[in-house]
Amino acid sequence: MSTHIGAPAGAIAPRVLLPGDPLRAKWIAETFLEDATCYSTVRNMYGFTGRYRGVPVSIQGSGMGMPSASIYYHELLVDYGVTTLIRVGTCGALVDEVQLREVVVASAASTDSAMNRIRFDGVIDYAPVADFELLRTAVDIAAGRGIPLHVGQVLAADAFYTDRPDLYERLGTYGVLAVEMETAALYTLAARHRARALTILTVSDHLRTGERTSAEDRQQTFAEMVEVALAAAVAGADGGA
Ligand code: HPA
Repeated sequence: MSTHIGAPAGAIAPRVLLPGDPLRAKWIAETFLEDATCYSTVRNMYGFTGRYRGVPVSIQGSGMGMPSASIYYHELLVDYGVTTLIRVGTCGALVDEVQLREVVVASAASTDSAMNRIRFDGVIDYAPVADFELLRTAVDIAAGRGIPLHVGQVLAADAFYTDRPDLYERLGTYGVLAVEMETAALYTLAARHRARALTILTVSDHLRTGERTSAEDRQQTFAEMVEVALAAAVAGADGGA
């Protein structure tokens, strides 16, 4: 039983989807998994295990931002031996080519977080990247379903409300497609513990145009993305696609 996930050993599947919102974790488990049971309610950060196409899968809320999410990523990797982690969430678009409701798959994550500066003594600018096979699998699954997506770099920001929109603008000119708040920590910790990680996001708001999605829009596009993430998570497993 880890400090922040009150689950006994063996209660969490090796393949885990990670929404930030614990109520989204509940919704995913109830909507897409067979025989889902809740293994943790610590701090209301729900976790569930069930089966998708016969393969055990867990869904764990992570909270918002890298300090919160890193606690759950760390405990899943270190205390529960999780090997595949797929974050599903939302992002703000930074470039004109990426539009509201579209899907962004994060191939890599820049960050303004100090976590990796501390980790590498401020000497190395570590490049957190997605697991290539998982990335390729998710892209193939989305293509097979006719879901258009963008593959590229995101910014994992510490602050949702920024004082530096000028930096977001500049990052856009360097090919950073969108901003969210967790992926640099996810990819770094997964690499450290030899696990596979991927982030799949839907665009909930556009920082260049100021547009935002409605709650119904978010639910619909979120559902499509979750189905791609679940199919990618179980691909190659016995009973998986
Ligand atoms: N900033 C950071 N994270 C986000 C945003 C944003 O604008 N939109 C959705 N997640």
